[in-house]
Amino acid sequence: MSGFLDLCLKRQSCRNFAERPVEREKLEKCIEAGRLAPSGCNSQPWSFVVVDDPKIVPQIAKHAQPLGINGFTDKAAAFIVVLEEHAVLTPTVRGFLDSQYFAKGDLGAATVCICLEAADLGLGTCIIGLYNREGLSNLLGIPIEKQFAALIAVGYPADGVIRQKIRKQAGEITRYV
Ligand SMILES: Cc1cc2nc3c(=O)[nH]c(=O)nc-3n(C[C@H](O)[C@H](O)[C@H](O)COP(=O)(O)O)c2cc1C
Repeated sequence: MSGFLDLCLKRQSCRNFAERPVEREKLEKCIEAGRLAPSGCNSQPWSFVVVDDPKIVPQIAKHAQPLGINGFTDKAAAFIVVLEEHAVLTPTVRGFLDSQYFAKGDLGAATVCICLEAADLGLGTCIIGLYNREGLSNLLGIPIEKQFAALIAVGYPADGVIRQKIRKQAGEITRYV
C-alpha cells in the first residue's frame, strides 16, 4: 500500500471485528482526521462522541441493530458518533443560504476522513445508517433534537481480506467537457 487510491481501496466496511480493544491514541487520530476535513465557509458543523468504555460499547451495539441487522456490531471495540452542529457561515453567504445548507456534505466529508484514517492505521470501520437514535441520545446524553450524521463502528478487522470494490465504472458516471 502506498498512495491515496490504495488507501481508498483498503478502506472497506468491516463486518467482522476481532475481539481486541482499539488504542485511545488511534481513536484520537481518527478524530483528528475528521477535524481536518473541509467544510463550507470553514464552519466545521460537527462534534464527535467517541465511545470506547467496554461497559457502554455493547449498549451502543444493541442500538445499532434496530431491525435485527448489523449483528456484527456486537464485536466492535468502539463507536464514533458524528453529530451535526450549527454552522456559522460567512456574512455574505449567510444572506443567501440557510446556515445548514452545506452541513450534510461537510459531515459526510468528516465521516469519510475518519474512516480513511482508521484504514490507514489498520483499523476497520463500518458506517451504520440504521440505528435507534432515541436510544443512543438517551444513553449518551445527547439532546434529542440534535441531528446525528453518522454512527461509525470501529475495531480491528478479524481477517486481512480486502474485498473487490463493486462500483459503477468511471465512464458511466463521468463526463469531461
Ligand atoms: C450512510 C451509510 C449507511 C450505511 N449503513 C450501513 C449499515 O447499517 N450496515 C452495514 O452493514 N453497512 C452500512 N453501510 C456500508 C455500505 O453498505 C458500504 O459502504 C457500501 O456497500 C460500499 O462498500 P464498502 O464500504 O465496503 O466499500 C453504510 C454506508 C453508508 C455511507
